[in-house]
Amino acid sequence: MVGAEGNEDVRVGVVGCGQFAGSFAQLWQLHPDVDEVWVTDLIPERAEELATEHGFAGTMASYEAMLDSDLDAVALMTQRWTHGSLAVRGLRSGKHVYSAVPMATGVDEIAAIIDAVAETGKIYMMGETHHYYPLTVWARRARAEGRFGRLFYAEGDYTHDMDHGFYSAYQYSGGEDWKATASYPPMLYPTHAIGGVLGVWDTWITSVSALGSVDDRGDGVFDKEVSMFGNDFSNMTALFETRDNGMIRTNEFRRVGQGRNGLDSSFRWFGTDGVVEQSALGARYVNRTDTIDLTEDIRSVPQGFDLERLKIDPALADDFRSECAAVHDRSRLPVEYDGARNGHRGSHHFLADDFVRAVVAGQQPPINAWKAARINLPGIIAWDSARNGGARLTVPDFGECPFDVVDTSTPRR
Ligand SMILES: NC(=O)c1ccc[n+]([C@@H]2O[C@H](COP(=O)([O-])OP(=O)(O)OC[C@H]3O[C@@H](n4cnc5c(N)ncnc54)[C@H](O)[C@@H]3O)[C@@H](O)[C@H]2O)c1
Repeated sequence: MVGAEGNEDVRVGVVGCGQFAGSFAQLWQLHPDVDEVWVTDLIPERAEELATEHGFAGTMASYEAMLDSDLDAVALMTQRWTHGSLAVRGLRSGKHVYSAVPMATGVDEIAAIIDAVAETGKIYMMGETHHYYPLTVWARRARAEGRFGRLFYAEGDYTHDMDHGFYSAYQYSGGEDWKATASYPPMLYPTHAIGGVLGVWDTWITSVSALGSVDDRGDGVFDKEVSMFGNDFSNMTALFETRDNGMIRTNEFRRVGQGRNGLDSSFRWFGTDGVVEQSALGARYVNRTDTIDLTEDIRSVPQGFDLERLKIDPALADDFRSECAAVHDRSRLPVEYDGARNGHRGSHHFLADDFVRAVVAGQQPPINAWKAARINLPGIIAWDSARNGGARLTVPDFGECPFDVVDTSTPRR
């Protein structure tokens, strides 16, 4: 196997210029080790608008044109069911690949990405925002300090109600046929819930049993006849077994009456010596003698950027413009990121920098292909389990990353 060669003046091509891409593209443009940012979209006006607004190097006609160019890296910001094959093509064309979540929707696609990274040595990163959510960061530190004892149970929930900004997002994304894709199976988007849990607990999942609740809204969204995924589950629950004799429970809910008054993701980790629990009211660490209120440490406030100009549904404001929390260590970030638009509780700055650091160092990032597989695969098997009445199924594992992983914690200032 070969390793990647590092390079400093990175040229990035962003693929897909929809609702999510702008935030990351402008962060790569600001990064001191990035030389140029190029963009492309199947709808060329979207690429042109984004490039003009941020003064990017320019637009390219297609993904294929990017793969034929001398760009170093491509960043996949396309719809969630498209990433697997695009990632393999990017890696096989000699590009480093950043992919928005999920990694892929099929086991074969994940295996193909891992093979491509192993054979080419190119950098692959999945941009899981919950790896850098403030509570995950706090709990990861607590685990390193031994505050949990032995972790044996965790809950990770991604409970994002369709009425909480998703109708307009899917309409923008899917055009006239948006209902066919808005029925995207909840367990094929497992990386927030599992990524948050495994961002703290250094384990992997070995088996799953999952159930789905058939939707009853009757608006044609979760309708098997309309759905390109043949899906009518809007809410799903999975129980996973871990390799170290533990349990993880995940909820993926898309019809849940909490909207903006609740959290769209929440976590609990249980260890033999300590517990972290999160609810809409806050979060705390408890052990046999102490209680630590984490609510202020993990608070991430909205930034003042104009939602209308950003074309963001106000319901999703926190996702697409929210500051870091007190728990985040910004000393590792480029000074150019201070005051820059951030999102998903401050995680965007860390993800954008992780990728560039990995490319520059020629070493794989923390959420490399092997780690991403452990976060993503369990959901794919859970979807199979739920379609088979909750059958307990084995979750394959591709092992640890065989390459060096870059240390992204080194301070820059
Ligand atoms: N917290 C998170 O991690 C988070 C949050 C939001 C979105 N996302 C992910 O980001 C991705 C993008 O989301 P979005 O809301 O911006 O989607 P979107 O539908 O608004 O935008 C996707 C864009 O990609 C373009 N596109 C599709 N295939 C293409 C191709 N082959 N070549 C060029 N352009 C192509 C489409 O025309 C569209 O403009 C999704 O995969 C989603 O899962 C992640």
